[in-house]
Amino acid sequence: MISLIVAYDKNRCIGKKNTIPWKIKADMLRVKELTTNQTILMGRKTYESIGKPLPNRINRVLTRSLNYTANGIEIYHDFDMAIKNIQTEKLFIFGGSQIYEQYIDKVEEMYISEIQTCVVGDSFFPKIDMEKWIVVSCEEYDSDEDNEYNYKFIHLKRK
Ligand SMILES: NC(=O)c1ccc[n+]([C@@H]2O[C@H](COP(=O)([O-])OP(=O)(O)OC[C@H]3O[C@@H](n4cnc5c(N)ncnc54)[C@H](OP(=O)(O)O)[C@@H]3O)[C@@H](O)[C@H]2O)c1
Repeated sequence: MISLIVAYDKNRCIGKKNTIPWKIKADMLRVKELTTNQTILMGRKTYESIGKPLPNRINRVLTRSLNYTANGIEIYHDFDMAIKNIQTEKLFIFGGSQIYEQYIDKVEEMYISEIQTCVVGDSFFPKIDMEKWIVVSCEEYDSDEDNEYNYKFIHLKRK
C-alpha cells in the first residue's frame, strides 16, 4: 500500500530553509510508530536535512543526480521505479514538498499532523480535495512542555 505522512501548519506549510519549523515530540513519535519496519520515500533535500537514514526502515531517496551515493539508503532516479517492488506492508511518501506534489495522486491513505499555528516557511503541502477523501479519524491534542503548539492527528483514506 502507498501511504503518505506529513506534518503541516494551518497554511499547509511543511518546512523552512530545509528544516521543520516546530517542535512537536508527539508527532516525531507518531512518525516513528507508523513508519518503523516500513519503507519511506523522500526527496534528496529531505534526506540531507535529516542527515542519516532513519533506523529500522527501508530508506528510499529520489534524486536526478546519477552519481549520488550514501550508505544505508536505496537511491532511485526514476519516479515510477521508486514506488515499485515494495517489500514491506506500506511505502510512506515522506516528503518534502516536491515529492508530495508528484505522488499525492498515487496515495491510498494519508497520516496528517496539523499543527495549530501559522509559521513563516518556504515549503508547502498541496491543497487536498476533500471530495476524494474519507476522514477515518481526527484526534485533537493540547500543547504541553514537549509539544509547543496544539495539534491534530488526522487519518484520511481515499474514497
Ligand atoms: N513537515 C513535514 O512533514 C516534512 C516532511 C519532509 C520534508 N519536509 C520539509 O520539506 C522541505 C524539503 O522539500 P523540497 O521540496 O525542497 O525537497 P524534497 O522534495 O525533499 O527533495 C527534492 C529533490 O528530490 C529530487 N527529485 C524530486 N523529484 C524527482 C524526480 N521526479 N525524479 C528524480 N529526482 C527527483 C531532486 O533531487 P536532486 O536535486 O538531487 O536531483 C530534488 O531536488 C524541507 O524544509 C523539509 O524539512 C517537511
